[in-house]
Order: sequence, then C-alpha cells, then structure tokens
Amino acid sequence: MYSDSLRGKLENKSAAAGIIGMGYVGLPLLVNNAMSGLCSTGFDVNGAVVDIINSGKSHILDVSSDTVKELRDTGKLSASADFSKLAECDVIVICVPTPIDSHYQPDISYVRSAAEEVAENVSAGTLVVLESTTYPGTTEEIVQPLLEKRGFEIGKDIFLAFSAERVDPGNKKYNTRNTPKVVGGVTPVCTELAALYYGTVLEGAIHPVSSPKVAELEKILENSFRFVNIALVNEFAKICEKMDIPVWEVIDAAKTKPYGFMAFYPGPGPGGHCIPVDPMYLTYKAKEYKCSTSMIEAACEINSGMPQYCVSRVGEVLNNAGKPLKGSKVLMLGMAYKPNINDIRESPAIEMARLFIQYGCDFSYNDPFVPQVDIDGKTLKSAGLDKAVLEAADIVVIATDHSAYDAALIAESSRLVFDTRNLMAGIDGDNIHRL
Ligand SMILES: NC(=O)c1ccc[n+]([C@@H]2O[C@H](COP(=O)([O-])OP(=O)(O)OC[C@H]3O[C@@H](n4cnc5c(N)ncnc54)[C@H](O)[C@@H]3O)[C@@H](O)[C@H]2O)c1
Repeated sequence: MYSDSLRGKLENKSAAAGIIGMGYVGLPLLVNNAMSGLCSTGFDVNGAVVDIINSGKSHILDVSSDTVKELRDTGKLSASADFSKLAECDVIVICVPTPIDSHYQPDISYVRSAAEEVAENVSAGTLVVLESTTYPGTTEEIVQPLLEKRGFEIGKDIFLAFSAERVDPGNKKYNTRNTPKVVGGVTPVCTELAALYYGTVLEGAIHPVSSPKVAELEKILENSFRFVNIALVNEFAKICEKMDIPVWEVIDAAKTKPYGFMAFYPGPGPGGHCIPVDPMYLTYKAKEYKCSTSMIEAACEINSGMPQYCVSRVGEVLNNAGKPLKGSKVLMLGMAYKPNINDIRESPAIEMARLFIQYGCDFSYNDPFVPQVDIDGKTLKSAGLDKAVLEAADIVVIATDHSAYDAALIAESSRLVFDTRNLMAGIDGDNIHRL
C-alpha cells in the first residue's frame, strides 16, 4: 500500500521533499524540510532564484544565507528549474503566488501551472499539498482533476491536501517552524499523511480538519478578520480627526480591557501579498453561490481609500503652512508595507508616492530595505537620511515605521511631519501631525 510506504519514509526521514515556488513562503519551508533531515529540492520557474539558492545564498530576509549554505553543503538542500525531478519526490508542496488582477479578480494561473507540472511528473505514492492562499474549492476543483486525469485515485495512489502557510515576515517570535498548521485532506488518509509530514518537518501544533475546503476557508477567515478590523480602526481614525480626539490614545485605552478587545492600528492601509488580497478570493467565490461579502467590500472601500486620505491630510498640513502640494518637497519615510521588511507588494506607500508625484510634489523617499522602486515606469532611488536631508524637506511623511527611524531626530530636524504610523508616540511639537 502506498500509504504505508509513505508513512514509513516520513517516519524514518528517508522521504524526499519538493517545494514548488521559492519565495517568502517556499524558501523557509524548504529550509525546514532540509533541517529536519529530508532531502529537499526547491523548484522555481525563475532560473535566477534557483541559481541564488544553489550558490548557497538566500534572497529572503527571514532566511540567512549561512543557513542555506550549510544545508546545501550537507547535500540536503538544492534548487532546480527541472520539473521532471518532481518524479523523485515523496512529498510535493505548492507555494506559488495567488495575486489579484487590476479588477480585484483572483489570478489562479500560477497554481494551475504548478499543478500541471505536478500532474505531469508526479509518481504514485506521493503526498501533494497546496499551501498557496486561495478560495475554498481550489484543491478539489483545480488540483485534484489534473491528478485524476493521469489515472491516479486520490487517497489510494496519490494523497492530496491543503494547508495554508501563516508566515508573518519579520516576526521574531513566530515563524514557519513554530506556527501551528491546519491540515485538510481530500480523504482521511490524505489528512493523516499531511499531518504526519508537517509533524515531521515543523514544530508547531498540527490541527487536522475535515476537508481541504475547511482549511482553505479558515485562512481566508484569518486574513479577512485582519482586513475588516484594520478598516474599522481606519474609519475611527477619520472620525477622530474630525472630532479632534487622538485615535492612538483611544486605542491604548481600549487595550486595557483584558478580554474581548484586540488592538488594530490605523495607517495608510494594509499591504503585502495576503491581507489586501485574500478576502477578494472569497468575494469572487461567494458570487458563485449568490452570496455577498458586503463587510469585506465595505472594508475594501475604506482601506483602499487610505493612501488618498493620507495624501489629502498632508495637503492640508502644507496648506496651513502656506504651501501648496504642488512643488513642495515631500520626503516619504518607508516604502515597504510594514516595518523592517523589504516587501513592497500592494504597499499603500507605493500608492501614496504615485499620488504625491501626480500632484506635482518634488517627491523623494527613504527606505533602508527598498533601495529603489518603480512608480508608473519611473525608477526612484532611496535617498540617504540625515539631519540635512530632513531639514531640506517641506514635509516628512512617515509611511512605514522601520526601527531604524530615529523619531527624536525626525521631530527636531523636520519643518513638518505627517505621521501615519504613530512613530512619534510621546513626542509633541507644533510641527508634528498625526493620522
Ligand atoms: N508572503 C507572505 O507573507 C505569505 C504568508 C502566508 C501565505 N502566503 C501565500 O503563499 C503563496 C506564495 O506567496 P509568496 O509570498 O511566497 O510568493 P513569492 O512571490 O514570494 O514567491 C513565489 C515564487 O513562486 C515562483 N513561481 C511562480 N509560478 C511558479 C510555477 N508555476 N512553478 C514554480 N515556481 C513558480 C516565483 O518565481 C516565486 O519565486 C501565496 O498564495 C500567498 O498568498 C504568503
């Protein structure tokens, strides 16, 4: 029986793992597989990424090059763009992107093409897990039929499950290794083998659920929860501004309640490949069932309007100082969507930069993690950051609260500050303005 054979290989760690997609999710998982003793290959369509990994380096901030090199040198870790090698894998995990297009529609093409590669090359007896965040039904509606087309019976010849990645880049406490995993297989034996696999390579608790759909939807619930709560607090920030009540103080006070409240913070809007994207996958799928996702849509309207709101507030601050936005020197601190990482996907700071440029500002930015960025076909380079640079700006706009930013220096050197992240907490001055 294939299931017994795979169980044995996982238990004695002779199983070979193939991880498809060597990005923020796939590379840490590859490293964990190799660290646990499984012979592990990372697959990617991007030859440059494959070369970086094979040269013993990491292109992902949370994974050190030393770790990649060490594991490569033991022979446990390598990368490849040759998908025929998937045939040698006992476990295959798909970690490819699931973005949205310009109409907020899911782009499932990466999952489909990775699943096609798997179906073409996979050998009988393999466990296949989809980790890409997606709408409920993807595993059984897209991946399963491709495998069945090859004549495999799921749960007998091939084992198929969904288990979302929950990695929070930059989080020093929770990472791929110690974050609990939710696992839902197409059949009970699929769930059991997927749980055994993750229990072998990771250290967090494993929570099995009754189907891939449950596992797919729980991930969307996690991220919709954040998306909606961020929108709620952004709405509070706008109301507080009109009422002249400091929103940050309101949140700090609410936080003293030891139960029933979880603090979320306002800002220029959520970013990254997950929070602003994943709820849209549910909105898309819900339509098939004639269901609305009105709360998600309201949250989307509020969150996606935040960059414009922040830029308008900057315009007001400049106006009160007798300056128009047009022609003013705007220095924006931060381009990444959250502190201390280099990810600019869906970053609200990008939209703010675009608006400042459209309004005719003399715009520059600094981000220690993002040396350059393309805005509407124009490449901008991160400016140096010192007292003189701060003094030269008409206004300094804090878009991301990187730890490297010295709040006291910014406050004392800048003519005007507009702080969207409360970096200036505890610092007062006529020049300081907050969201
Ligand atoms: N980034 C996060 O913080 C995070 C957290 C949890 C879940 N996720 C989810 O994990 C998935 C992957 O996200 P990511 O941030 O790692 O993406 P990423 O863009 O960092 O990496 C994806 C990699 O997949 C490769 N790729 C694309 N198509 C491929 C194919 N057909 N075959 C092989 N490789 C292919 C790309 O070249 C890239 O290197 C997404 O569904 C995302 O929603 C991401």
